[in-house]
Amino acid sequence: MCQFSRQLVLQFILCFAFGHIYGHQVSGRIVGGSAVTHKKYPYYVRLHYYGKFICGGSLVRNNAVLTAAHCVEDLNVKALSVHADTINLSDTGVEREIKYAMVSKEYDAETLNYDVAVLILSSTIPSASVIPLDRSAVAAGTNCLVIGHGYTKEDRKVLSQQLQEIYVPVVSRKDCQRKYRGTGAITQYMMCASEPGKKDSCPGDSGGPMICNGKQAGIVSWGEGCGRVEYPGVYTDISKVYGFIEYALMIENIVFI
Ligand code: ARG
Repeated sequence: MCQFSRQLVLQFILCFAFGHIYGHQVSGRIVGGSAVTHKKYPYYVRLHYYGKFICGGSLVRNNAVLTAAHCVEDLNVKALSVHADTINLSDTGVEREIKYAMVSKEYDAETLNYDVAVLILSSTIPSASVIPLDRSAVAAGTNCLVIGHGYTKEDRKVLSQQLQEIYVPVVSRKDCQRKYRGTGAITQYMMCASEPGKKDSCPGDSGGPMICNGKQAGIVSWGEGCGRVEYPGVYTDISKVYGFIEYALMIENIVFI
């Protein structure tokens, strides 16, 4: 989703410039995906801002959501809401407000390094199904699931009404760094995946989960265009930011006096 905060120069370029230049070349929703027809991914949630869909997320506790830092930075937390238990964009599902959001000091809005946020909900979702997190790095070549309502084309005109799923192979960090040489920095906190030219995430999918072998291993973060042959999608590597997530979830139980 296009974020309009001041520092997101990169996002701005991706969302506007590249979308318009290359928009005609690639089409597809979460590029190359297919619609989820029943409640297959109950841990998937949508993030709305002043009622408008902005990003994906995942339930990691019945009162906590994992998403990307760039989805929530500089926003008024009171105007954010989480929608669970729905696969259609227009459905409200189970709605919760945000008690508070946590982003690491390591997060860099310009490079999108450490792009992770933990949101604590105003009240628990008793029916919530949570996704376990992967503490260890995923091997290159592993086929991983990515879900989201991201734009149906790079022109960012139409969002997927129905939740989409794709499986994409993980690209080694070295390969990814080679591919992004000159256009972006792939740090140790990032991992990459895509089926070149065919399957990828796209704006609007950000914050949503990448699931490998039944555990969440990544968070949709950024990429140059969508579904390009040359550029894989970039994800926050959960195994590298696991400490932060664990800590953020623990703080919830600490009382400051
Ligand atoms: N930054 C986008 C968002 O905010 C996600 C872009 C992912 N792009 C990609 N080619 N995988 O929704």
